[in-house]
Amino acid sequence: MTSATVVGPPDLGPGTLADGDAAIEQALHPPSFTTDPYPVYARLRDEAPVYWSPYFGQWLVARGELVVEVARQWEIFSSVGWDSFFMSQLPEDLRPEIPTVIDHFRTVNISTTDPPVHTRLRRLLSKAFTPRRIATLEGRVRAVTGRLLDDVCEGGGDGGPGEPAGDNWAGRNSDGRQRDSRNGESRHGDGRQGDSRHGDGHPGQGAAGQVSFDLIAGLAYPLPVAMIGELYGVGESDHADLKRWSKAVVAYTGSSVAHPHLARELDTALAEFRAYLRGLVAERRQRPRDDLLSDLVAAVDEGERLAEDELMATSINLLFAGHETTTNLIGNGTLALLRHPDQLDLLRRRPELLPGAVEELLRYDSPVQRVRRITTCDINIGGREIPKGTPVTAFLGSANRDPADWDRPDELDVTRPDVFPMSFGGGPHYCIGAALARLEGRIAFEMLLERFAELTLADGFENRWHPNVAFRGLVELPLRGVLAG
Ligand code: HEM
Repeated sequence: MTSATVVGPPDLGPGTLADGDAAIEQALHPPSFTTDPYPVYARLRDEAPVYWSPYFGQWLVARGELVVEVARQWEIFSSVGWDSFFMSQLPEDLRPEIPTVIDHFRTVNISTTDPPVHTRLRRLLSKAFTPRRIATLEGRVRAVTGRLLDDVCEGGGDGGPGEPAGDNWAGRNSDGRQRDSRNGESRHGDGRQGDSRHGDGHPGQGAAGQVSFDLIAGLAYPLPVAMIGELYGVGESDHADLKRWSKAVVAYTGSSVAHPHLARELDTALAEFRAYLRGLVAERRQRPRDDLLSDLVAAVDEGERLAEDELMATSINLLFAGHETTTNLIGNGTLALLRHPDQLDLLRRRPELLPGAVEELLRYDSPVQRVRRITTCDINIGGREIPKGTPVTAFLGSANRDPADWDRPDELDVTRPDVFPMSFGGGPHYCIGAALARLEGRIAFEMLLERFAELTLADGFENRWHPNVAFRGLVELPLRGVLAG
């Protein structure tokens, strides 16, 4: 493992925000930054579009055109070496405690490599994610969404004002497993709404057809995990474990600086994750199925195309990326709509706006807020000299709100034409799951609006965001809904 050398910046001239500015450094700390990063982005864009943060130990890039440059120019801004830089922030004596973390990040995966190795890995995965192949999943996404909304409506009876949004809210048990197991289908098997929409007295449903539920636990989390699980071949009974392991990956990799306790938790999670995957791989080797894992196992067995350790590392990457992010699209998007009731009403009246609205919601509060790279040479970007081997974070969430690129960037407007946000990144690492995420987001919003004639935030709602600078998402989103029909 090689450690990237971190080199500080030269002195700045007058008139610009100084690197390491005390107020900005303070504002970059969670929970302030992770609760609302947008004022910090605005200040950085205006006063220091390329800024050295001693707290992050990285250069931060905030201006839209520069963020695009970092994401696209892989020859200069490399995906190789970030993990060893990040690990270099951990105390040396922690290493014996985190052997699995060290081993995992030593292995190449699709996100931590550049062309040509990246091209080979990407080609192996991309067949499963072409827009045409993803479009064939629409029926399944509807079926799973319908079933989850059935559960929400049946279990989410109105417990009266102020009911807390604990883990036992509608649709899930406290361990994240579903309450019933109707084989992943809605009652009608095609995603049509269950009888509960007609307010006919299902158990737990309030007299006036009112339900209270946590959108994250009831829909935003289980829908993407079910879909990536189906594609990859992870059974429903294993979803709760997948959630636990993925949370540890997201917490460690998405924090601003590497934390020893998160590295320890990740070590345990990765050891379990890898043991589980080894079992699945052995099974598929014996009995291949029609899933992505069987295709990848075949690629390993055919020789040169995929090494077994690459298969493990890339699978872990795909499995967590395949759901944690889309959960945040559904959660952040719903919150944004509830805070802009005029936009919500517009979508109810004109559902044909939904595909564009998904892009606007991705732009407005991006589920992934940054990409991270290491410079491969001395480079001048935005007037700043950054030496070779330096970590750079480029804020996608800031690019999406840059007034140089967007008219009224801080307004949510579901009728905005031609929205192409930076939320899926750019260049060779552009999100491979973008078509699936868009499909799941569109159907989730569509069926939520169909199922509920009214949706509001639960009384006393206080937004609690995960303290994560990369993956922006709510811990819970307690809602109150009145069933349609
Ligand atoms: C709204 C949901 C999603 C968002 C906002 C999102 C965002 C991103 C971003 C920004 C990147 C680029 C990272 C970089 O340049 O370093 C990325 C890459 C990736 N995403 Fe997503 N993603 C989402 C959903 C998904 C889904 C559903 C899957 C899988 C089914 C997925 C799998 C991946 C993979 C494997 C990569 C690495 C691609 C590569 O390095 O070539 N993502 N995603």
